[in-house]
Amino acid sequence: MEKYLVTSALPYANGKLHIGHVAGAYLPADIFVRFQKLIENDVIYICGTDEHGAPISIKADAEGTEPQKIVDFYHESIKKSFEGLNFCFDNFSGTARPQHHKLAQEFFSTLLTKGFIDTEVITQFYCEHDKRFLADRYVEGICPFCNEEGARGDQCDHCGKLIDALELKEPKCKLCGNTPVIKETKHWFLDLPKFEPHLREWLETKTYWKDNVHKFIMGWLNDGLRKRAITRDINWGVPLPVEDAEGKVLYVWFDAPIGYISSTIEWAEAQGNSDKWKDYWFDQNTKLIHFIGKDNIPFHTIIWPAMVMEQEKKYILPHDVPANEYLNLEGKQLSTSRNWAIWVDEFLEYFDGELLRYVLAANAPETKDCDFYWTDFQNRVNTDLANVLGNLINRVLVFAKKYFDSDIIKPENLDSYKELFEKIDTMTSEVKDCFANYRVRKAVNTIMDIARLGNKFFDEQQPWKKVKESKDETNDILYICAEILRTVSIVFSPVLPVKMKALRDMLGLSNDFIWNDLSNTPDGYTFSVQQPLFPKITDEEIQKQIEILEEKSKAAEPAPEIEIKPEIEFDDFMKLDIKLVKILSAEKVKKSKKLLKLQIQCGNVQRTVMSGISNHYSPDDLVGKTVTMLLNLKPRKMMGVESQGMILAAENDGVLSLLVPDKDLKDGSDVS
Ligand code: 2FM
Ligand code: ZN
Repeated sequence: MEKYLVTSALPYANGKLHIGHVAGAYLPADIFVRFQKLIENDVIYICGTDEHGAPISIKADAEGTEPQKIVDFYHESIKKSFEGLNFCFDNFSGTARPQHHKLAQEFFSTLLTKGFIDTEVITQFYCEHDKRFLADRYVEGICPFCNEEGARGDQCDHCGKLIDALELKEPKCKLCGNTPVIKETKHWFLDLPKFEPHLREWLETKTYWKDNVHKFIMGWLNDGLRKRAITRDINWGVPLPVEDAEGKVLYVWFDAPIGYISSTIEWAEAQGNSDKWKDYWFDQNTKLIHFIGKDNIPFHTIIWPAMVMEQEKKYILPHDVPANEYLNLEGKQLSTSRNWAIWVDEFLEYFDGELLRYVLAANAPETKDCDFYWTDFQNRVNTDLANVLGNLINRVLVFAKKYFDSDIIKPENLDSYKELFEKIDTMTSEVKDCFANYRVRKAVNTIMDIARLGNKFFDEQQPWKKVKESKDETNDILYICAEILRTVSIVFSPVLPVKMKALRDMLGLSNDFIWNDLSNTPDGYTFSVQQPLFPKITDEEIQKQIEILEEKSKAAEPAPEIEIKPEIEFDDFMKLDIKLVKILSAEKVKKSKKLLKLQIQCGNVQRTVMSGISNHYSPDDLVGKTVTMLLNLKPRKMMGVESQGMILAAENDGVLSLLVPDKDLKDGSDVS
């Protein structure tokens, strides 16, 4: 029996959970854990919320509340979302808890005593307007390495390099947009170069890590490791366990991964066996697997292992760090600030969490970025789950009910189906191999192929004909189909735990099962026909979601940037003669796509004006309208006609509107 300690990156407790999170660091882990349990390995799944960091303290300030309130709110929200997706964490803790603070301080003190941490007075950005030192994420500028704009003070998402905020070109405070000043402050630094030989030696043994992870690390190491500040000037976080450190806390990235351990300690205590966590963390045979998104690679493969290596206590180091790529949404990058995201709690208001599990597993961003499209979601649910698997369940159960009163017995001789069983065996071994190697996409594909094989078998055997000739043979066909469904119920359970439970209920099977039960063929089946397991999703339901997404992102759009022309005198404005005019006639201008020729009346004055509004108004719509016009613009010829003034209109994003008074006013009225 192997022993696993599986973790998912601790989500920040400053926002809700969205599907991008789920696809990256969570669902693959939950599937892996469920699979390991199924093959009877010893595994615990540890997580919790990451409750420190400047964003939380800034959010609290902005909302006039305490950081702990923000943390409590999002901890609950995130936890509930995971529950709705049927996650199987053994413990879900939080890093603001005293237990965690204590352990993080111990980590720090050990490294300090052993000379891996030193102090330095540094200069740092300080925003005079916001009265705070700016955490790296709150400074934005041009990346000193790749010259791309929009690099954050900690990392450039474009070239992936870690940045020292002070190196950013043209820095700006992200909170208020002002240019920050530079101030002196004392900080504690992790001396990464000191760890380098040991780190390299250890990393060289990790040849089996995913390609994307390996590449990332090598790039990092080859750039050379540098000292990293591990303290911050804010009042929310783990206080430094040293004198003379008023107002300083541990950098969130220093304490967060320690949360994996503190959460395990909490788990052990809740089990009533407070030493049990040591069976995992101090047993060098435990395989520690960190599931993360790709943005977390450097912290989990370099900094965190370094911190662990030099502890007095011999904690285990990561065995594997299977980082996933990103999930995009409808062809665009997910963005919480632009509200371009599908929030799990909102998803769950409309759909079953298992459907999301399925679609994110079938389309997991394992080796490259992937896209979630609502129509693809519908397609996968309707064609795979409903039409393939759902259909197989339905036809077998309904047929068995009609002709066998839902009771099927095991055939005396299964020899004639040997080939089919062998094929299925090969497929289930492939699924097993995929699950063990984080290849969930392929596992799901193969499982669907098993279900397809079931449908093909049913079609080929034509039980609806056979039942008229031989009831025994028909029984056998249904038994084989039930065996295929039973196989699916086992191998699909890591992905669809609740649906597969329901399927087993329908098949009359116990829900206490392991992978090895695949070969335990039952003596017979007693089915119970129930509601369809996978109802189809309608076009209307999907259209509604697309509209919700668009509307929410529109509402979150920032106000457009307006450029204002240089100031003018009041007299300058008074030179303009703007009046309401009535359109008497309108006609298209030959050879011009844009122009309309208008006759207007303004009191006793009549004029001809050319107006470029043909793409927005048809001549018939215009006649009789009262609009706004600049009358004393010097006449000019357009398409051979003299235009005596200018009709005023507003335009934005391709939409043009004439300026029509909202009260009934006569033509000739002054506009000022
Ligand atoms: O990127 C994030 O969401 C971090 N909160 C992940 C932390 S992982 C671990 F170190 F706790
Ligand atoms: Zn500011």
